[in-house]
Amino acid sequence: MAKRAMKRVSDSSSTLHRFMMPEHANPQGSVHGGLIMKMVDEAGAIAAMRHANRPVVTIAMDSMTFKSPVLVGQLVTLHAAVDYVGRSSMEVSVRVLAEDPIEGTVTHTNSAWLVFIALDDAGKPTEVPGLELQDDQEQANWEAGKRRQSRRLREQS
Ligand SMILES: CC(C)(COP(=O)(O)OP(=O)(O)OC[C@H]1O[C@@H](n2cnc3c(N)ncnc32)[C@H](O)[C@@H]1OP(=O)(O)O)[C@@H](O)C(=O)NCCC(=O)NCCS
Repeated sequence: MAKRAMKRVSDSSSTLHRFMMPEHANPQGSVHGGLIMKMVDEAGAIAAMRHANRPVVTIAMDSMTFKSPVLVGQLVTLHAAVDYVGRSSMEVSVRVLAEDPIEGTVTHTNSAWLVFIALDDAGKPTEVPGLELQDDQEQANWEAGKRRQSRRLREQS
């Protein structure tokens, strides 16, 4: 059996930035939560595609809580990193920060975990590289990701 390829977390970690404009706002003047969720999905998918070097689909997104609103005029930054991989599945964590470039303040608005599945040319789940953990933090993230994935699978059955 061929040895499984391995990649580091840093090989696929990704950062997205987007400046929030009036067209992104709801009538209250804060940014639509659905837009932030879409950006979280995009940032997570980029990290997963970089890890797998395959197309991916989202199979799960854990619940998201907005601790504070994102406002028009803020720069949203999303950091995505692969925490855990199974055979075809990858759990990615996405951390969302909102920066007011005039005030110079940065707020952590929310974080989310998503699971992506890598697909082969026939659209079936396909094996992804393993994750070569580099430090205690990545090891802790892996173990927490493994527990969350077990819970997701338990809860759907
Ligand atoms: C993703 C998809 C191809 C998987 O097909 P499937 O027949 O369920 O595949 P399998 O049962 O072989 O499971 C594949 C992986 O999904 C994981 N999985 C299944 N259900 C899951 C869940 N609820 N949460 C997280 N992972 C899950 C399995 O553990 C397995 O991971 P592993 O290979 O690392 O062990 C299929 O479910 C699908 O097409 N879903 C729709 C995706 C989509 O359209 N997303 C929104 C738009 S991008």
